[in-house]
Amino acid sequence: MSLQLGDLVPDFTADTTEGTISFHQWLGQSWGVLFSHPKDFTPVCTTELGEVARLKPEFDKRGVKVIGLSVDPLSDHEKWSGDIAETQGHALNFPLIADPDRKVANLYGAIHPNASDTLTVRSVYVIGPDKKLKLSITYPASTGRNFEEILRVIDSLQLTAQHSVATPVNWKDGDDVIIVPSLSDEDARKRFPAGWKTVKPYLRVVAQPRT
Ligand code: BEZ
Repeated sequence: MSLQLGDLVPDFTADTTEGTISFHQWLGQSWGVLFSHPKDFTPVCTTELGEVARLKPEFDKRGVKVIGLSVDPLSDHEKWSGDIAETQGHALNFPLIADPDRKVANLYGAIHPNASDTLTVRSVYVIGPDKKLKLSITYPASTGRNFEEILRVIDSLQLTAQHSVATPVNWKDGDDVIIVPSLSDEDARKRFPAGWKTVKPYLRVVAQPRT
């Protein structure tokens, strides 16, 4: 059975470019993003890791720890890090897990045998402070991910974890949101005293709450 939303994510101990970590302990009370890479010294992965290094301050701002995973040994990760810094202009500033025996990749279901027996797909796991899986996205090896989209999704996850709202199509931070259908108008009046716009009884639009 693959990892599903709401599941407690598997714990593990692994070597990384920042030393040995116990995953749950490393996460602490933070949000986390674990993202898998098919292989070291591959072009798309090189661009992705440089981009996440560039965006690291944005993850930090949201209280999110990021960690990469690639099914190669630490010695390769260390050599590859130099290429990433040289070609992308951003050096790794977060840990990259060495997973030569695919222990972590298998725990997270990041090897999809009908795509490849040996390489991981490009999976992203967003983990909440309760260590439960809040979101997973999987791309094939040939398609690089959009990490601005991952930040957008984290904004939605963090907002909707705190308020009785959901975010509509293409929402981005600052846009109006939707009052969850499970909240009655009576309860909504207490939570959103400035009011909202009822488009349909099930579609109530309100300004994004600010904490
Ligand atoms: C890449 O990262 O460029 C890549 C890795 C595996 C297959 C295809 C592309």
